[in-house]
Amino acid sequence: MQNIIKYRSYQTSNFQDLLEFLSTVEKDFYPPLSKRTTLRNYLLSDLVENSYTYLALCNDSIIGFINLQINEPAKNDTNINTVAIHPKFRKMGIATQLMGNVINFAKTNGFGCIKTRTWSINNSGLGLYKKFGFEVDYIVKNDRENNVDSIYLVNKFT
Ligand SMILES: CC(C)(COP(=O)(O)OP(=O)(O)OC[C@H]1O[C@@H](n2cnc3c(N)ncnc32)[C@H](O)[C@@H]1OP(=O)(O)O)[C@@H](O)C(=O)NCCC(=O)NCCS
Repeated sequence: MQNIIKYRSYQTSNFQDLLEFLSTVEKDFYPPLSKRTTLRNYLLSDLVENSYTYLALCNDSIIGFINLQINEPAKNDTNINTVAIHPKFRKMGIATQLMGNVINFAKTNGFGCIKTRTWSINNSGLGLYKKFGFEVDYIVKNDRENNVDSIYLVNKFT
């Protein structure tokens, strides 16, 4: 049977489900998200406050999300904090759908660019950002464990 993927904006009633989803994918980040703070605090402070979060669902379960931090009122730029897809649903174009949605959101809400960062050995993340026109802004060498660099990227709309 084919999985039907649905997309919609995050609502506060999704908090617990998104927390559970984060615990499924957090070790795919480098370093894992829970090394910085608890997942609950990460979700509260970085993903819910002043944010636009867009979800992918399969049979009403969250299987992916993207989060755009909203820096109003300046609107010079905004920042993708996180994008993650459940391992069983990767390479199916789901992050592409989510990314297209947040870029459209940022453009229609008057932001001049989107910034983000990832790590140098994240081929899938780098591939996703480059697919959407993000360019390397600057690199912080040896910023992460085991001499992995942080890569800062920007997608300018004008
Ligand atoms: C990065 C991630 C979000 C991609 O999600 P996805 O739904 O599999 O991505 P898509 O299928 O939409 O692919 C989009 C593009 O990403 C790139 N990509 C995806 N998986 C890749 C892989 N394994 N290797 C290289 N590039 C890859 C490709 O450029 C792809 O475009 P294409 O299919 O037209 O070639 C997913 O791998 C993930 O959740 N990784 C762990 C968390 C993470 O690294 N987040 C990003 C950093 S914040």
